[in-house]
Amino acid sequence: MTGRKAPAGQLPGRGSGQVPEPVAGPAVGPVPRQVSGSAVGPVVGPVVRPRRLRQNAAVRALVAQTRLHPRELVLPVFVREGATETTPIVSMPGVVQHSLTSLVAVARECVAAGVGGVMIFGVPLSKDAVGSGADDLDGILNVALRQVRDAVGDDLVVMADLCLDEFTDHGHCGVLAEDGRVDNDATLSRYASMALAQARSGAHVVGLSGMMDGQVAVVRSALDEEGFEDVIVLAYAAKYASGFYGPFREAVQSSLEGDRSTYQQDPANFAESLREIQLDLDEGADIVMVKPGLPYLDVIAEAAAVSMVPVAAYQVSGEYSMIEAAAAQGWIERKRCALEALTSIRRAGAQIILTYYALEAAQWLRP
Ligand code: PBG
Repeated sequence: MTGRKAPAGQLPGRGSGQVPEPVAGPAVGPVPRQVSGSAVGPVVGPVVRPRRLRQNAAVRALVAQTRLHPRELVLPVFVREGATETTPIVSMPGVVQHSLTSLVAVARECVAAGVGGVMIFGVPLSKDAVGSGADDLDGILNVALRQVRDAVGDDLVVMADLCLDEFTDHGHCGVLAEDGRVDNDATLSRYASMALAQARSGAHVVGLSGMMDGQVAVVRSALDEEGFEDVIVLAYAAKYASGFYGPFREAVQSSLEGDRSTYQQDPANFAESLREIQLDLDEGADIVMVKPGLPYLDVIAEAAAVSMVPVAAYQVSGEYSMIEAAAAQGWIERKRCALEALTSIRRAGAQIILTYYALEAAQWLRP
């Protein structure tokens, strides 16, 4: 059947001198309804009208399939050793490096706004080859964990970034072998020690972002051996070597030269994400994460399809900064685009979203 209509001015049907063609309605639908017996011949209209469910805000809200909730949002926060006030992060307008005092204040704001959690990143004053500050109980991240946990108790899920890159002078996520490569297995024991320090400092969740093979199993057993069975392991399972982490480098004053493509995933690949997710599930991950968010919605959707544990996604620094930069030019609507990006990540299947918009979005979403 073609959708061709009779030429203008010519009525199909009897008297037109042509065999009438079946006439298709302009919209897809089962069978176009023909109102016969009319003087002007069959009048055709769409039977199926998707616009019916878009007619006003109340109807749209009733049928919305994806809803954002503050409880599912986690705010990543940066705390800088020795700071007495906040320091703006230029490439992430509106995001700052906190002092301990301002960090505790923002954690309390998160509780008040009903945000799900905070993910804390430390910015130490000094760094070394093995990242000694990471598992030092007096290191900035562990001090911050204790203060935040003291302030919020169990009213907010307190998460700690478990990775060496903020603490190493070379900026890599692990320790280096003599030949300069990132030494997977030597890094694992550093992670185990870091996990214990974070657990002792009150972390509810340790966020393993280093992409070392076997990291989930090693951290899980280290925690269990010391009686921290209840500490939750959030595994950055499918983490890509992404240019979208650019502004984060400023946020943590990263020392990295080069990139992380020997341990983070190639953006070209899909199947290895499934492998990474499966390995982390087998090793005991409680939550698996895909990172970045918007450029990897296909991976999030697949993770949600295969995972029996909650799937998180990280809307990373560059995703945030792109929206901020375009909005600052007046080229896009800031709030609308921020919520649209978050909704898309949620729609793809992420149940939990780490986002620099968490606190503000919680306020936007207030009924
Ligand atoms: C590594 C880590 C990074 C981010 C979170 N954890 C940086 C990296 O892997 O290079 C990036 C987060 C962001 O860009 O917002 N500890």
